[in-house]
Amino acid sequence: MRHFKELADLGPGGIERLLDAADRLLELRGQAAHPRPLQGKSVALVFQKASTRTRVSLEVAVAELGGHPLVITSSGSQLGRGEPIRDTARVLSRMAHAITFRTFSQAEFDEMARYSSVPVLNALTDDGHPMQILADLQTVRRHFSGAQGLQGSQGASARGTSAQGAAEPLPLTALRYCWLGDGNNVAASWIEAAGLLGLDLTLACPEGYEPSSEVLTKARERGGQVQLTRDPEAAARGAHVLVTDVFTSMGQEAEQAARLAAFEGYQLDARLLGLADPRAVVLHCLPAHRGEEISEEVLEGPQSLVWDEAEARLHTAKALLEWAFAP
Ligand code: CP
Ligand code: NVA
Repeated sequence: MRHFKELADLGPGGIERLLDAADRLLELRGQAAHPRPLQGKSVALVFQKASTRTRVSLEVAVAELGGHPLVITSSGSQLGRGEPIRDTARVLSRMAHAITFRTFSQAEFDEMARYSSVPVLNALTDDGHPMQILADLQTVRRHFSGAQGLQGSQGASARGTSAQGAAEPLPLTALRYCWLGDGNNVAASWIEAAGLLGLDLTLACPEGYEPSSEVLTKARERGGQVQLTRDPEAAARGAHVLVTDVFTSMGQEAEQAARLAAFEGYQLDARLLGLADPRAVVLHCLPAHRGEEISEEVLEGPQSLVWDEAEARLHTAKALLEWAFAP
């Protein structure tokens, strides 16, 4: 049985294999040859925090793989009335064939995994968001391989077109990555990816909002070139991929005023993007707060891949479910 707590759980070469599978599933979407390995299986999608992309991508992914998704929220279940996670885990394991879990502390995720007898997949905790980084990597890899943007089965729309594929193919390891803002859960999973894939990642974070030194050390020991600076310009200069996220994550709402003050100067705007490589692309896991961590102009501009990135959540969710259910 396989739990997915972090990217390393995919094993050596596992990220690349998963991205290959996600590309294959993208190409097969809507076709008779699309695999349905979840036929007769139910997946419990448990959310203790709000979600749009993760919930919809997992729900559609389970359905398109032939299975039955069950969305369980805190307020709509006994979790919200204090039923322990360890009890919930054992009950869900008797009925569903896998669990995805979005929660607060990593310890809560670990409790679900420990007491579950079916695979538990991390759909975001305070410490990481590995599903998001799989989608980010698929988006970047496709873009810089010269492939068409994702634009998937729906076709590109006027309000959601893709940046043109890069003219000169570049592998993930040839790119320079820049993270701007909070050293949060999404940043931590980017750092993990940098370690596992050997990427060059520079994070610009204000004092007091850096990623944990444990996460940084582990990534460097694994071979990632991970740098930390307080200077957003230094991080953006020459980067091929610029990534940001909200300054105030779910569960941190009481800190919002202090955070807005601390992150002054860290907005991903046209000035910072202008320092990057001319081929640079912009990622944001969404939801975005225009005018805070990212300007409207950059979010909606020609270098933004955020809609492809959102769509990639579906293809990578399917690939992850295939991995979890593989014999
Ligand atoms: N990016 C992401 O995880 O979005 P949701 O919070 O809407 O799921
Ligand atoms: N860092 C954000 C990501 C949301 C997808 C949060 O945890 O709220």
